[in-house]
Amino acid sequence: MGVLAGVVGASGYAGGELLRLLGSHPSMSIGPVVGSTSAGRRLGEVHGHLPRLADRPIMSLDTALDGRALHEADVVFLALPHGHSGQVAARLSGPGAPVLVDLGADHRLVDPQAWADYYGGSGSSRHAGAWVYGLPELDGAREAILTARQIANPGCYPTGVALGMAPLLRAGLALPRDVVVVAASGTSGAGRATSQQLVGSEVMGSVSAYKAGGLHQHTPEMAQTLGAAAGAALTVSFTPMLAPMSRGILATTSAPVSPEATSDAVWRCLRDTYADEAFVHVLPPGRWPRTADVLGCNSAHLQVAVDASAGRVVVISAIDNLVKGAAGQAIQNANIVLGLGEGSGLPAEGVAP
Ligand SMILES: NC(=O)c1ccc[n+]([C@@H]2O[C@H](COP(=O)([O-])OP(=O)(O)OC[C@H]3O[C@@H](n4cnc5c(N)ncnc54)[C@H](OP(=O)(O)O)[C@@H]3O)[C@@H](O)[C@H]2O)c1
Repeated sequence: MGVLAGVVGASGYAGGELLRLLGSHPSMSIGPVVGSTSAGRRLGEVHGHLPRLADRPIMSLDTALDGRALHEADVVFLALPHGHSGQVAARLSGPGAPVLVDLGADHRLVDPQAWADYYGGSGSSRHAGAWVYGLPELDGAREAILTARQIANPGCYPTGVALGMAPLLRAGLALPRDVVVVAASGTSGAGRATSQQLVGSEVMGSVSAYKAGGLHQHTPEMAQTLGAAAGAALTVSFTPMLAPMSRGILATTSAPVSPEATSDAVWRCLRDTYADEAFVHVLPPGRWPRTADVLGCNSAHLQVAVDASAGRVVVISAIDNLVKGAAGQAIQNANIVLGLGEGSGLPAEGVAP
């Protein structure tokens, strides 16, 4: 019967995408599905796009933990609001515990102060400690994931940004200071809970900025990942935007360029870095990433250019926030840890038009 996968937060957007992809996974089968307010309902009531799972009952977290349904899974995906997965992980630890992949932010940040500044709020959620950071295509990451049992799945914006800029910083083609990110996301990035800014009449026909001025919670994660690639601490100025689409992230990341770097050199750096990767595609010169081309798939599309007059290198990346930015990457990480083919169950081709 293969690998049994549990999904906590199954009624949410990331949870729904996990279930969609797991439903076609050749080696994983779906075990307990867990929700909060939706507990006691059937999956068909919250995910109309998953008819084969429609009759599955959604369990409450306490039922799934006390009855040990989650303990019996081989891998558990945690797709909860931040501040919750640390407690669940603590109840799922010990000998024989399942592999855990946390799609939330609880285990991404190494620095407790950064966690407190961006997620701590009134102090209700404490820093739960960093796990192995699950962005397999980053230099050295795959080896660390291979031997881990607990993986922190990266945030959606940081995934697109790191894939584009980290190799350039590591190679010294981009200089480790003054990194600027402007990125637009579809509304599913905010999760399923409703708010006035996310209703159709507010979003349709409009692109808007939010959390500008260093306020977005993914800022320290970007600085952490890019700083590690550069070998030097750096700051990131991040302006996120909301775009009138359900899925997708288009990120523009720029930094001062090394004086001798050309557009050809930075393009070849990315192409060579990802030459053997199934899910990261450096587009031919002159073609620019589009969110439409990565819809529903686990791929990232990248392009890069040197703006010689401004002295900056500019990287554009497109991902589907729910796939490479969340559920697809989580399954990719679980595949690595469990010794399954890394790309098992993961489409590299998007849905078009
Ligand atoms: N959306 C994205 O593009 C994306 C990308 C990368 C990472 N993530 C991360 O993935 C996690 C889930 O995001 P999402 O977009 O799927 O959010 P969502 O649509 O709001 O879903 C949240 C899920 O968590 C459950 N939940 C809510 N409060 C809970 C509580 N107090 N205790 C236990 N379960 C609770 C909900 O259950 P009920 O519905 O039953 O109440 C639902 O299943 C977040 O940490 C998010 O940052 C999201």
